[in-house]
Amino acid sequence: MKKSWKRLLGLDILSDKYAYSNDAEHGWVATEKIPEKWVKTTCGYCSVGCGMKVGVRGDRAVAVRGDEDHPVNRGKLCPKGLSEHHTLQARSRALRPLLKQKNEFQPVSWDTALDTMVEKFLSVQAKYGKQALGVLSTGQLVTEEFYALGKLIQLGFGTSNYDGNTTLCMASAVAGYKRSFGSDGPPGAYDDLAESDLVILIGANIADNHPILCQRLAENRQGTVVVVDPRVTKTAMLADLHLPVKPRSDIALLNGIGHVLIAESMIDAAYIERHTTGFEQLRTHLAAYTPSHVAGISGLTEEQVLDIARRFGRARAPFVAWTMGVNHSTQGAETVNAICNLSLLTGKLGFAGAAPFSITGQCNAMGSREASCTSSLPGYRKFESAEDRAEIAKLWNVDPSVIPTKRGHAYPDLVEGMVKKEIRALWIIATNPLVSFPNYDVLTQALGNLEFLVVQDGFHPTPTTLHADLVLPAAIWGEKEGTYTNSERRVSKVNAAVPPPGEALSDFEIFLRTAGQLGVRDKLFPNWTGPRDAFEEWRQVSKGRLCDYSGLSYELLETAGPIQWPHPQGTESTGTRRLYADGRFEHSDEKAKLFCIEWQPAPEQPSRQYPFVLNTGRTVEHWHTRTKTGEVEMLHRMSPRAWLEMNPTDAERLGLEMHDKVTLVSRRGQVDGVELRVTSIIAPGHVFLPFHYFEYNSNRLTLSAYDPISREPNYKQCAVRVERSH
Ligand code: SF4
Ligand code: MOS
Repeated sequence: MKKSWKRLLGLDILSDKYAYSNDAEHGWVATEKIPEKWVKTTCGYCSVGCGMKVGVRGDRAVAVRGDEDHPVNRGKLCPKGLSEHHTLQARSRALRPLLKQKNEFQPVSWDTALDTMVEKFLSVQAKYGKQALGVLSTGQLVTEEFYALGKLIQLGFGTSNYDGNTTLCMASAVAGYKRSFGSDGPPGAYDDLAESDLVILIGANIADNHPILCQRLAENRQGTVVVVDPRVTKTAMLADLHLPVKPRSDIALLNGIGHVLIAESMIDAAYIERHTTGFEQLRTHLAAYTPSHVAGISGLTEEQVLDIARRFGRARAPFVAWTMGVNHSTQGAETVNAICNLSLLTGKLGFAGAAPFSITGQCNAMGSREASCTSSLPGYRKFESAEDRAEIAKLWNVDPSVIPTKRGHAYPDLVEGMVKKEIRALWIIATNPLVSFPNYDVLTQALGNLEFLVVQDGFHPTPTTLHADLVLPAAIWGEKEGTYTNSERRVSKVNAAVPPPGEALSDFEIFLRTAGQLGVRDKLFPNWTGPRDAFEEWRQVSKGRLCDYSGLSYELLETAGPIQWPHPQGTESTGTRRLYADGRFEHSDEKAKLFCIEWQPAPEQPSRQYPFVLNTGRTVEHWHTRTKTGEVEMLHRMSPRAWLEMNPTDAERLGLEMHDKVTLVSRRGQVDGVELRVTSIIAPGHVFLPFHYFEYNSNRLTLSAYDPISREPNYKQCAVRVERSH
């Protein structure tokens, strides 16, 4: 009894297993938890990119605290960050390479493991062609690892069928930025949250998903905060104004704002003329999006549409930020274009407070965007551009003909390639598709078709490692060195506080050894011993590009603190920068493009058999698929299982009550035993299920529908019915 209340309050450190002392710095604390030193690093969960210090005693991480000097979080951390050291000692850490033999995992040496991997990959490529090898990475590695991996895959294995789980998350933002501005790269800065006089968050529940950004928003004293979201999220509760749009009607609303801006002459004709193309077509296109038309689609009133448009038109510095409500859609990239249109029509971007700003997801999704070879060549170079290919080939000292003229398969197309048996071997790195990829049955069928599956991860077992033929144990955050880039393009140093457990190696070391096994180490990574060597090469490769790192060094990042790119050589200031301040964009004519975007209904509409629209999302306690946070006792106890939110009118009609166990059924599959939460947070006709839990896997319900431009899945709307579980 006594133990359980302590455990409930997270006070179980006050157990008898420790000796306590009243330490001047910490107060009462278990002696074994008093750090002997603090190691500065950056949080390894989300893209906010908080600075932290890891307390180390012996070779154990025993505490975490926020870094008061870090410009992003100024000493604050969210519950995940505060408990991050517990992930290092999780029981489910992968400790040694494991090879599946007769359906059982057997420990093998690293030499045997990498020998086997390379031999299997090469034999598959010899039989079915180079492109028969697929690689699926992540947003969790350091930039140096993404850079090295890109070279290894593209030049070493010679396949371009390489993508990351970042496609499940912000590919729409990337593709949208490329179309509107000519390059990826979020133009704004977190300071804008405080400096803007109108912050509009579209499909962005930052209170749960980017908690420390709420601290930055709280610094905004004068501005109005508007949240556009079908749900009354925690973030909506913080807002001055909540616009409860119908699911996926945001394009109509954005077009309606554009319509009113033009109709009421609140646009900047000089800016449009000088810095954009496509205005006349857009004007014609938007004529149809009258407030009454938009009201009919979005469920808002005409007055609400007019009001938000006029607020935008009058704002000195509007800041429009979005996350998954926009990205997770078959029209994600187009929605991003509709957002960028508004900034461009009014010329309100590139200065303090004003930006169309994609808040990214993982700690280093940005690093993958900048330096890997997935949807772009390193340095935001384009596969399609002969000039870009020639440039990267020269930097790499290879013949330009080895650089592909278009990207390989995006993530969903890799999966489809496995279903069709075009992809025969797959290397998964630091991601858990069995929980995160839509339409579970299709994915398991795809994995079942593979001749060889390698899963490299910090954890085992995970739902995905169990499918592997070979498991490679990797070091995680806290055990390795490098850099992360956060959502505002700020490059932060990441440092090792403790050694990895067992025989686990850093992903970087695994890539170098794989290159050695493949016989290309000297060619691709001459004299490289650690991430610093990759960083030095990446500085040169990024030189002159939008994401210019050439003026950065590990030393500067340690002494001056994290710095936003671009930071060309010779740059003095380390202060906040915004992209496109001069109105010059990255398209060849240096102009931004305005796009005519048509609203379309979501791909699967509710029906008599499947009457609810299912929305999916996250909760503050957990990180994506819970490989980490499911192992942190405190976080697990705060949110141990999934729940389903349903409006009281729907619950009453179905005769369901709070805490009832319900089953969700879609055309693809079903999820059983979910606890019902009856709440007006969610509108009638909608239900919400968090996507973190393998045990209640929302992706048994979601559909295979992808944005044709970005290839991002449409996770957020599918049709389901809800029944009492038996
Ligand atoms: Fe880490 Fe994100 Fe939380 Fe900051 S807000 S502590 S970066 S999870
Ligand atoms: Mo994302 S979770 O920014 O790849």
